[in-house]
Amino acid sequence: MKSPEESNTTTAGHQPGGYVYIIGAGPGDPELLTVKADRVLGEADVILYDDLVSSELMARYTALKIFTGKRKDCHHFEQEAINEEILRHARAGKKVARLKGGDPFIFGRGGEEIEVLRQNGIGYEIIPGITAAHGASAYAEIPLTMRKVSSSVVFCTGHPVSKIQVPDADTLVYYMVASTVHEVLDAVAQKGRDENTPVAIVQNATRYNQNIITGTLGELRKGEKAVYSPALLMIGETIGLCVKENWFSKKKKVLIAGSDSGMYNTGEFIKVHFFCEGGSASDLERVENSEPLDLDYIDEIYFSSPLCVRNFQPFYATIPEKIVVTVADEATRAEYGKLFGGDDAPIIH
Ligand SMILES: C[S@@+](CC[C@H](N)C(=O)[O-])C[C@H]1O[C@@H](n2cnc3c(N)ncnc32)[C@H](O)[C@@H]1O
Repeated sequence: MKSPEESNTTTAGHQPGGYVYIIGAGPGDPELLTVKADRVLGEADVILYDDLVSSELMARYTALKIFTGKRKDCHHFEQEAINEEILRHARAGKKVARLKGGDPFIFGRGGEEIEVLRQNGIGYEIIPGITAAHGASAYAEIPLTMRKVSSSVVFCTGHPVSKIQVPDADTLVYYMVASTVHEVLDAVAQKGRDENTPVAIVQNATRYNQNIITGTLGELRKGEKAVYSPALLMIGETIGLCVKENWFSKKKKVLIAGSDSGMYNTGEFIKVHFFCEGGSASDLERVENSEPLDLDYIDEIYFSSPLCVRNFQPFYATIPEKIVVTVADEATRAEYGKLFGGDDAPIIH
C-alpha cells in the first residue's frame, strides 16, 4: 500500500495513484469535526458524503462533492456503487475523502470500504469521528459509565429486528431504532431488566433540534409506537432527572440567514446557517438540497441583507411568533416588514 506522497508521485509509464481518507464527521454539530479531518477535507479533490453529514459542514469545502446518501427525489448509491465511485476517483489519481456520520467504524460500514481498497491496492487512512453515542451522552448529559452506578456500556443495533441483542451491561445504547424502539424495549424487558429502569430516546443529538424523550422502561413500552430518526435509545441508571434540562437545551438557537454578525460569536448561541447571500444558483441549490429547518427549535433569526429575506421567504412563508427577528440594517428591516409584516426588528451589528 502506498503513502499519500508515493501515491501522488508519477513514475514514467505509471498512472499516479490516488489516496483515500475514510473520515468520521461526528454526530451533527459541525464543530465536532476533528482538526485533522478538517485539514484533509480542505485538501481533498473529491468528497463522497453520507446522509447524516450536515450541509453546513459541507459548505466549508471546495472539493467536488458527491452525495451518497438517501434523499427524497434524489438518486442514491448502493454500497457497491459507492465502492466503485471511490475506486474510480482514486484510480484517477485523486485525493478522495469518504465522509461518514459519526465514526466510520461504528455501524458505519467503514470496514467494508477499506476491504475493497485493500483488495484494489489503493492507499488509505482512517480518521475517527465522534460517534452518535458520545455526542448524545455529552449533549444530553447522560454519562455512559459512572462510578458506583454503571461500570459497563455496550453499543448495539436495533435494526433489523432479527439482530436485536441485549448484552449484559449496565448502560445499553441502541443505534438505528427509528422504527424498532418498541421491539428493543420489549427485548430488554424480556431479558429481565427492571421496568423502572430509566430510558431516553435522543433524536438529532448535538444538533439545534436535539429532542429528548424520557421515561421508564415500563412507561415507554406502553407508549405509542412512533418513528424517531436519527435517534439513539439509551437505557440505564445513569439517565438522571436533569437530562431534559441539560446545558445544550439552555443555549439560544439562532438562525443566521446570510453572513454572520459578530454579535452571535459567543458561546451563548448555537448557530444554524441558512445560505442565501449572493442569491446565486448554487446557494439556492444548497438550500433545496438540505434538510428543511425546523423553526420550532429556533429562538432567534438574523437576516444580514434584504436579499436574504427574499430568499428565505419561499422556503418559510411564516415565522412563528415566539421567534425574535433581528436585522443588519434599515433596508433589511424594510424588506422583512414588506414580506413578513412588522417593522420593529432590532438592528444589530
Ligand atoms: C448507520 S448508523 C451510523 C452511525 C455512525 N457511524 C456513528 O458513529 O454515529 C445511523 C444511526 O446512527 C444514529 N445517529 C447518527 N447520528 C445521530 C444523531 N445526531 N442523533 C441521534 N442518533 C444518531 C442513529 O441511530 C442512526 O439511525
